[in-house]
Amino acid sequence: MTWILLVVVLAPASLIWLGWNLTLDALWQPTDRVTVRRILLLGEVDCDDHVVDLGCGDGRIVVAAARDFGARSTGVEIDPLRVLWGRAWIFSAGLRTRARIVHGNMYTYALSDATVVILFLSATSNFRLQDRMRKELAPGSRVVSYYHPIWGWEPDLIGEAKDGYPIYVYRMGEAT
Ligand SMILES: C[S@@+](CC[C@H](N)C(=O)[O-])C[C@H]1O[C@@H](n2cnc3c(N)ncnc32)[C@H](O)[C@@H]1O
Repeated sequence: MTWILLVVVLAPASLIWLGWNLTLDALWQPTDRVTVRRILLLGEVDCDDHVVDLGCGDGRIVVAAARDFGARSTGVEIDPLRVLWGRAWIFSAGLRTRARIVHGNMYTYALSDATVVILFLSATSNFRLQDRMRKELAPGSRVVSYYHPIWGWEPDLIGEAKDGYPIYVYRMGEAT
C-alpha cells in the first residue's frame, strides 16, 4: 500500500513540483546563517525598519530581521510549501506580531511600505524588479542584493558573504 502511494501519488507530485520550480526566475537556494546576519548588518536594519525579502524561501531572513534586529519583516514567496514552512517557523519563534510571509508573486507585491528590500534571486529577477523599486521605494531606503548586482545602479558599498560572493548595498535616491 505504501509503495502504491509513493509511486502513484508522491512521485508524480514531486516531479511536477520540481518541474514547476525550474520555471521560476530564481531557484530555491537558502542563504547561510552568517551571510543572513551580514546582509542585515550591511542594510543597517533596526527596529524602525520594515524589511521585505522578495523570494523569501523558508523565511530565514524574515525571522532573523524580526528576532535579531527588532524590525518588522515581510517575506514574499511563490512556493506554497516554503510559505507553510516559513509561517510555522515564525509561529514557533513567537514572532507573529512582527513577521509574516505572504504567498504571492514578488513581481506584483507593492513595495512602498518597505524601508529595506532583500534580494537573493537572479540577474533576470533583479532586472525585472529594478524599475518598480526605483518608483516605489522612498529615498534613503536600502536594497541589499546577495550575489547578483542590479544592472546600471551604483552600489553604496559591497560586502562579502561567508562564501566569498558579493553583497551589494544600494541606497535609493543616490545610486539608482
Ligand atoms: C535563492 S532563493 C532565496 C531564499 C531566501 N531569500 C534566502 O536568502 O534564503 C529564491 C526564492 O525565490 C522564490 N521565487 C522565485 N520566483 C518568485 C516569484 N515570482 N515570486 C515570489 N517568490 C519567488 C523561489 O521560490 C525561492 O524560494
